[in-house]
Amino acid sequence: MRNQKLAEEKLNTYHQESILNYLDQLDDRQKQEMINQILQIDFEQITKLYEDTKKTKKINADQITPIESIDKEKIDPKEKEALQKIGEQIIKKDEYAVVTMAGGQGTRLGFKGPKGTFKLDIGQNGKYIFEILTDHLKKSKKLYNIYPYWYIMTSQENNQQTIDFFEKHNYFGYDKNRVKFFKQGILPMLTQEGKLVIENNKIKTASDGNGGVYEALKKEKMLEDMKSKNVKWVYICGVDNIMVNPIDPIFIGLTIKHHMQIASKSVMKACPEEKVGVFCRRDGKPSIVEYIELSEKMRIECNKMGDLVYGDANIVSHLLTVEAIEKISHKNLKCHLAIKNNLYKFETFIFDGFQYLDDMLVMRIKREEEFAPIKNKEGVDSPETAKEIYEKKFS
Ligand code: UTP
Repeated sequence: MRNQKLAEEKLNTYHQESILNYLDQLDDRQKQEMINQILQIDFEQITKLYEDTKKTKKINADQITPIESIDKEKIDPKEKEALQKIGEQIIKKDEYAVVTMAGGQGTRLGFKGPKGTFKLDIGQNGKYIFEILTDHLKKSKKLYNIYPYWYIMTSQENNQQTIDFFEKHNYFGYDKNRVKFFKQGILPMLTQEGKLVIENNKIKTASDGNGGVYEALKKEKMLEDMKSKNVKWVYICGVDNIMVNPIDPIFIGLTIKHHMQIASKSVMKACPEEKVGVFCRRDGKPSIVEYIELSEKMRIECNKMGDLVYGDANIVSHLLTVEAIEKISHKNLKCHLAIKNNLYKFETFIFDGFQYLDDMLVMRIKREEEFAPIKNKEGVDSPETAKEIYEKKFS
């Protein structure tokens, strides 16, 4: 009763009367569930996020300066060998883990179910995205006789389905004792008028964006788990790049050699107009500048060699120390607005955490070697384009 009163007060204070009216139509169990949901919502935060959507985003080009990348192809072969050895040591000592962020909604792909369970028309029987990612990781077993620890971030919505999928497929031959699933946080979705939404007798929520990975790793005790296992380096990537190369000792070696706590892989922007985020420094700190933030001058600016100054596109392929993740996990990342199915969704981005580290290394790799994202149902970055890139390399 007391909780109901508290929930009603909150709804009244924040002008969510329609939810208040709806509560009375629910049976006791449903009502209790919704009351619990309401009590967990930070209405102050939601109100502020909604108010922020009305403000125009200030773009301050003066804060942005370039960050130079190292082209993997251009590293001297002798040095490559040395870097390879450094990286291999980390993997062989079992100090390496991989985090796959699979908590997204995959709205653009329009597939019902976790994106990783999407089956591509590859090979004789087709291959699931999760199966392909498992294949890439199994490279480490073959080369170093070790299955890296694998942490899979899911959402409240798709967690059970994801676990069931891996169980059903026997982890595609991966050592299941080395796999852990953890759930990311949620935020309520809002109508464009700032109202909460009901779906299936519950307040509609969505994952809090891939920037939620830092907090989720901490909250769900995955950082603790990593530390207990003496993991030092964590490679974080998205679920939707089927060419991802998580076993890359040169990348690890290069990061260590440069005394960095964080490194990212990039690909060269296909053309100045490509709508991708590119690496930069913002107020001197590592960051990513989004396409719409780049001025026309910056978009086309070239260096002496004729390469774009802001030409290193983000492919969501990041390597961090456990300490760096822990440091960022204590910060409040800013929220960005996305409009999904006409509703407001608030999400944090993983790269908004980079600013809390002094510097970062960017290693440029060849697009066709390591980048084939599946975002859209058809056209660019679709199952069809990804399949083409994949088959060029692997068959
Ligand atoms: P995207 O930005 O492509 O989002 O995520 P999405 O939700 O998968 O797809 P759309 O925009 O609804 O079509 C990039 C990566 O970050 C993960 C995704 O699973 C993907 O690997 N992600 C995104 C999360 O893990 N959690 C989130 O809340 C958002």
